[in-house]
Amino acid sequence: MTEQADWSGKAVLVSGGARGQGLSHALAFARRGADVVLLDAPAPLATVPYPVSTEEELEAARVTVSEAGGTEVLAYAADVRDPEAVRVAIDHAASRLGGIDVTIANAGVFSFARTTWELSPQEWRECSDTILLGSWAVARAAIPHMLGRAGANLVFIGSVSAHKGIAATGHYVAAKHGVVGLMRTLAVELAPHGIRANMVSPTAARTLMATNPAMAKCVEYQVAGGTNMSNLLDVELLEPEDVTEAVLWITSPGARYVTGDVLKVDAGFTAR
Ligand SMILES: NC(=O)c1ccc[n+]([C@@H]2O[C@H](COP(=O)([O-])OP(=O)(O)OC[C@H]3O[C@@H](n4cnc5c(N)ncnc54)[C@H](O)[C@@H]3O)[C@@H](O)[C@H]2O)c1
Repeated sequence: MTEQADWSGKAVLVSGGARGQGLSHALAFARRGADVVLLDAPAPLATVPYPVSTEEELEAARVTVSEAGGTEVLAYAADVRDPEAVRVAIDHAASRLGGIDVTIANAGVFSFARTTWELSPQEWRECSDTILLGSWAVARAAIPHMLGRAGANLVFIGSVSAHKGIAATGHYVAAKHGVVGLMRTLAVELAPHGIRANMVSPTAARTLMATNPAMAKCVEYQVAGGTNMSNLLDVELLEPEDVTEAVLWITSPGARYVTGDVLKVDAGFTAR
């Protein structure tokens, strides 16, 4: 067994790090000594039925993560749908920290319609651009700062929606499936550089994305009573920290020969 990784002297970038799972990941790395870069506070997303994080919330997260680790914690208001803004932020962070060791492409939004053919183009774009274009934008900006750094790796936060069809959410499902292809391609391209790329795919977790009141409607829109929509294990919502456990392992030296792979933390959701 590899001992718990010591992340001191390493820089960890988390998109969507102001709250929820991203904040949990950021806190865990800070507690283990890492420098942390948070990217969040996007431009308005009119079709998302719950609020995304504000600049004030991002700043509060920066303070919380700083207090947890005593390392350098940088926060940037940047919308992952804007690849140039993401590049400017990540270039700045990398110049401050000397490079990036771990990139966690975590920012995401969720919306739904009664059926996928009733989604509006704006619903499609806002969700898909955040998840798919945004994951690429974060990777695109971070990778040049990861080259040549021993143990560097990327993690894309997927979902059960990256691995099966789920009614009312074809844009989210398609975008998450797309991130699987992006992750696998980067694993191929980055292997000669000794850099790994993987995905961690959670089932529903206790964050605003899943606990906001609009979700009840999405559950109602599931076909056949949502029979393909449950965890096998007796848990309704994961805690963000359950996902962080998987992120910590897959980014650690203990997973040094794991690349192009998916680690599901889905309580068996996708097993049937
Ligand atoms: N919560 C769940 O049930 C669940 C299940 C499976 C997968 N996921 C995935 O987990 C990841 C984290 O989500 P969460 O559960 O912590 O939700 P969350 O809504 O609490 O956090 C998402 C964060 O991403 C930020 N964000 C959204 N769009 C952005 C953009 N365009 N640019 C920059 N930042 C943006 C938000 O401001 C927010 O801080 C997402 O990729 C999501 O798809 C969530």
